[in-house]
Amino acid sequence: MYQNVHLRFRFSKRLAFAVFLFECRQNLNGEALHEFSRFLYGSAKVSPMSKAYDTLFYPLNTGSLQPPGQDHSVLFINAALCDGLNLIKSAELTLQQYFKPRASALQEQGYSVLSEIPKSEETFDYIFVATPKNKIETQYLLAKGLKMLSDGGVLVCAASNDAGGNRLAGFFEDLSVENTGQESKHKGRVVWGKNSPKIDNNKIEEWIEAGAPQNILDGQFHSVPGIFGWNKIDKGSEILVQSLPVDLSGNGADFGCGYGYLSDHVLRHNPAIENLTCVDADFRAVEFCRQNLERLGHKAQMRYFWEDLTRPALGLRDIDWIVMNPPFHEGKASDIYIGQAFIKTASQSLRPGGTLWMVANTGLPYEEILKSEFGNCSKKHEKKGFKVYVATK
Ligand SMILES: C[S@@+](CC[C@H](N)C(=O)[O-])C[C@H]1O[C@@H](n2cnc3c(N)ncnc32)[C@H](O)[C@@H]1O
Repeated sequence: MYQNVHLRFRFSKRLAFAVFLFECRQNLNGEALHEFSRFLYGSAKVSPMSKAYDTLFYPLNTGSLQPPGQDHSVLFINAALCDGLNLIKSAELTLQQYFKPRASALQEQGYSVLSEIPKSEETFDYIFVATPKNKIETQYLLAKGLKMLSDGGVLVCAASNDAGGNRLAGFFEDLSVENTGQESKHKGRVVWGKNSPKIDNNKIEEWIEAGAPQNILDGQFHSVPGIFGWNKIDKGSEILVQSLPVDLSGNGADFGCGYGYLSDHVLRHNPAIENLTCVDADFRAVEFCRQNLERLGHKAQMRYFWEDLTRPALGLRDIDWIVMNPPFHEGKASDIYIGQAFIKTASQSLRPGGTLWMVANTGLPYEEILKSEFGNCSKKHEKKGFKVYVATK
């Protein structure tokens, strides 16, 4: 079945795919839904970024850029399982990925993956960067990449057109990168250039500083450009906290904890909480959540997991309550399934009688799965395009 889905994805338009997914969903429940979400989200071959990965390695395929040889050291930032990996024959290949589903997909194929960018003292002959949508993070990664290039080393970066592909050549100009080239393919742009003494080191330092961890919200939290809503309070979370009770106690969890906004809120307003488990798929989010909550000095016992909540592997059991604001991007069919898989994992993690507090965009169809997983679901609150649901196991 998966092979069939894969082929249809590659050759159909987004709308047709969305309809197809909707049809499939009608026949999925339980483990099948988890596996399907994992397939959609965890497999880089069908992830929303897959086209950008094809674009990134395109010049190696066409011969515009010499592929790295056995003796070259190669760093791939924001790496994912993709066909381009087969073009890298280097004995010294370093892969980096913050996002757990992509990191796991690589690890399952035998690759070792760093969760953080290597220290700038290390140098590489080739650095490939699948650049993210966030502009400050992209500039940070390009600046970091240039700083880590060996003499004459090559930096290659790419993004799809709807994720900032067209701005990459301008960033190379801003940094005074020489010997640049660029190509457009797969609805994206790939740009490359060489390390040289002409590179603007002041600009490099400026962009590294702008993308570094910093205080946000009047110093209440510490965060970094690139993690979800890195410097603001998410609207959905803001609405969720207005509905949350103040008598939560025992063992709780924050699913998709980000930098820790919801966790901090529940801990401040519910002194009877004994244990809180914070989970996020973004390595940086988990680390900032940990730092923030430790610094804020809450007295509950804390646990932090870098995990993919669309997979049941986490094995949490007997949790008394869960708060969650699952990820969504309007219009993307796959995101509905991520939220549904979060609900399924929440249902498996709660004890009988345990409660899920969840916020979601009004347009997302979660009532059905909440009812099928929990046997009940009530809408507590609706405001500014968001709904707060409560479901008891
Ligand atoms: C809408 S944000 C909410 C963040 C945080 N709770 C807040 O209120 O600011 C959703 C979070 O889910 C995380 N996330 C996305 N996909 C995930 C997955 N598969 N497993 C676990 N967390 C995921 C994102 O990194 C993000 O931090």
